[in-house]
Amino acid sequence: MAEATFHFPRGFLWGTATSSHQVEGSNTNNNWWAWESEPDRISLGQKSGLACDWWGGRWREDFDRAAEAGQNSHRLSIEWSRVQPTPDIWDESAMDRYREIVRRLVELGMTPMVTLHHFTDPLWVADQGGWENEAIVGLFEKYASRVVEALQEYVNLWITINEPNVLAVSAYLLGVYPPGKNDLLASMRVMTNLVHAHAAAYHAIHKQQSTARVGLAVNYRGFLPARKWFPLDHLVAKNHSNLFNDFFPQACSSGVLNFPIRFKRLPLAKNTQDFLGINYYTRELVSFNLLYPGELFGRRYFPPDAELSETGTIANQPAGLFEAIKWGLQFNLPIIITENGVEDADDSLRPRYLVQHLHQLWRAVNFNFPVKGFFHWTLVDNFEWEHGWTQRFGLWELDIETQARSKRPSVDLYAEICQENGFSSEMVRRYAPELIGEIFPD
Ligand code: GAL
Repeated sequence: MAEATFHFPRGFLWGTATSSHQVEGSNTNNNWWAWESEPDRISLGQKSGLACDWWGGRWREDFDRAAEAGQNSHRLSIEWSRVQPTPDIWDESAMDRYREIVRRLVELGMTPMVTLHHFTDPLWVADQGGWENEAIVGLFEKYASRVVEALQEYVNLWITINEPNVLAVSAYLLGVYPPGKNDLLASMRVMTNLVHAHAAAYHAIHKQQSTARVGLAVNYRGFLPARKWFPLDHLVAKNHSNLFNDFFPQACSSGVLNFPIRFKRLPLAKNTQDFLGINYYTRELVSFNLLYPGELFGRRYFPPDAELSETGTIANQPAGLFEAIKWGLQFNLPIIITENGVEDADDSLRPRYLVQHLHQLWRAVNFNFPVKGFFHWTLVDNFEWEHGWTQRFGLWELDIETQARSKRPSVDLYAEICQENGFSSEMVRRYAPELIGEIFPD
């Protein structure tokens, strides 16, 4: 068989993504820390604790490893509760710490991408009603301005809010994130405030930094009609996609919030994305079923023959990444894959998952779809929200008792890909030989 290498465009961003609460440790002043101390919230009653001890300084060694492994970018988030621990205190020493962190990335030749909100709220914000209270718009705008003022020397790629769609659903409909509600009207209020806060922050950032590139990271989930011949399956799959996938990027491009039963104009939000951030993990089937009124009459399940991740929350569906990118084209923006990865402690699936998804990404690039970068989730095993430490997404394995890091085989695979700015048949043969016929057919 012929040897081949599939390359990506020059300047492509290759990195990993992390978030403050998941890696820093001792984040005692936010709503997740409080949530973790309540019974039955987290698998096995686990806690974030020291996490990866980044606040204790271990970000240094992790960044050194990432740079050495050829990554030219890193996506991290700022912890609002550290920067503004109470309404009237701005903690300059925390801000200095973040400056040091992003400066180091630049020194290592890694482009920093900074997320301002990744699921956690300061306790004092949560006490005021969090995302249900419209006051959060002004508060978030002020916080965003302070962070940009402090970090703009090193950062011009910004994500205002990570996965507003997941936040609205998990915290206000499913009740698995704080504040643990199952309240449709509350979730609609929250969606409005999320769009509004994003828009306010977008303008505040641009006011200070003309070169800023600002976006959202939306979690795109594939919803396929289970029975291709059945129009009602198509309808419910489309409804799921409209609400979960489309709502936020559409609102931030048109300035219109398309709720199923009414729409609302928010002109401030019009054209408030400089790029589209897509987090893609999986895809599922949807079939029309009258027993699921609360889920828009759609029963969702993974394709029966799909390869599942260790705890069964992700089905390996690489074609869904290509679909996600095609879907993203409607917004006429550069696209960045801001998260993609799989939980897999023994690294038996990750190399294959990685190569198959990057193959789809490469296909997209060859259609001249404007994809500019890829961030693998994640660098080192970290605290996985309601799953605690039971899901291991890291390229590096973390021993939470000793803080020791050890390399999974995927580290070297991803390093070779980053260094080559592409992947070759030879690499695939070494790391995921079972894929050679699929990706490099004769
Ligand atoms: C995303 C989230 C990340 C991480 C990842 C893996 O939804 O943004 O924080 O938890 O899922 O589960």
